[in-house]
Amino acid sequence: MSQVISLYPAPAPAAEPPAVPPRAEHIRLQGVRKAYGTATGPVEALRGIDLSIGKGEIFGIIGRSGAGKSSLIRTLNRLEEVSAGQVLIDGQDIGALSTAQLVQLRRRIGMIFQHFNLLASQTVLENLALPLKAAGVGRAVIEQRARELLKLVGLEGKEHAYPSRLSGGQKQRVGIARALMLEPSLLLCDEATSALDPETTQSILALLKHINGALGLTIVLITHEMAVIRQVCDRVAVLEQGQVVEQGPVWQIFGQPASQTTRALLAPLATQVPPDIAQRLASDNGQRALIELTFDGQSAREPDLAAIAQHLGGPVSLLHGGIERIQGRAQGRLLLAASPAPGRLETFLRQQGLFSQARVAGHV
Ligand SMILES: Nc1ncnc2c1ncn2[C@@H]1O[C@H](COP(=O)(O)OP(=O)(O)OP(=O)(O)O)[C@@H](O)[C@H]1O
Ligand SMILES: [Mg+2]
Repeated sequence: MSQVISLYPAPAPAAEPPAVPPRAEHIRLQGVRKAYGTATGPVEALRGIDLSIGKGEIFGIIGRSGAGKSSLIRTLNRLEEVSAGQVLIDGQDIGALSTAQLVQLRRRIGMIFQHFNLLASQTVLENLALPLKAAGVGRAVIEQRARELLKLVGLEGKEHAYPSRLSGGQKQRVGIARALMLEPSLLLCDEATSALDPETTQSILALLKHINGALGLTIVLITHEMAVIRQVCDRVAVLEQGQVVEQGPVWQIFGQPASQTTRALLAPLATQVPPDIAQRLASDNGQRALIELTFDGQSAREPDLAAIAQHLGGPVSLLHGGIERIQGRAQGRLLLAASPAPGRLETFLRQQGLFSQARVAGHV
């Protein structure tokens, strides 16, 4: 699978975006740069980031290791100071805040971590109480709020348990409850499900989605698990070497990734041809093209396999086919092995108007 030839000179026009009401802006980054000073000179982690995140949105950030994701999320509560540019929250430049104002800002921003960061020597209730104690809130109020939140995250009755007695998923639920104690309007999640098994990940994602809906808070989420983004995020930004290479609604970025970086990141979601089948196809018929067709469910028609085979001539093997829903939109993918005469496939696809994208994904 070495060669990628685009059959269309330009990508097909993107489908109409869904009719979602515009959101008020919660976070804006303008020309944000971050350089770390190191013994061997400055390391540029962020190189001019412009982003806008809406109120109540679940916004995903993806990118390879070292792309700058953690640096970016940490500029949102000034755990990292920017080297240039501005971070505005509710229109306010947070770089201009006094120390007292910064404390207030951080109370409105909760954060959860990959390794939960709970205090092992304290009970669940004591862990939850910490941020409120620091804020000078009385004990009765703290306990009431903690009990409400433990109910919300599905941990009723665990007030007096120690973290060592909890599963990974339960610990992350405590982490989420703790992050919500000060009633934040923004929740930052840096690889919050990366230490969890798939089933527990599902339950934590469902919880985050529920909290997003019930409390209306904005969630900014970093993950290397593309399935997580697909499942819960409204929009996503792709980082590469400290720059945003692509951003947009998840259905659009996942359905028609424009950048090579995004394609590479999404590769684990795509079904590959098992090597033994690829080998058999190659030995059967010599060089056959591996043709990937994606369709976005906008078309009134469905792909007609018989018509495709007739047009291409010769045997056409269906290697993979499926439709899934992303944000309620159908996204389909067909992977075929065939030997089309030059130009025939393109002509056919244009006539059909079925597919959002068609490419020769390589040869088997
Ligand atoms: N405190 C620091 N001092 C010096 N360099 C740093 C520091 N923190 C991060 N970096 C560098 O900045 C770049 C971006 O790092 P960052 O942690 O933001 O990446 P990331 O996308 O979160 O990666 P990962 O997926 O591995 O968590 C990397 O080159 C990293 O080595
Ligand atoms: Mg990171």
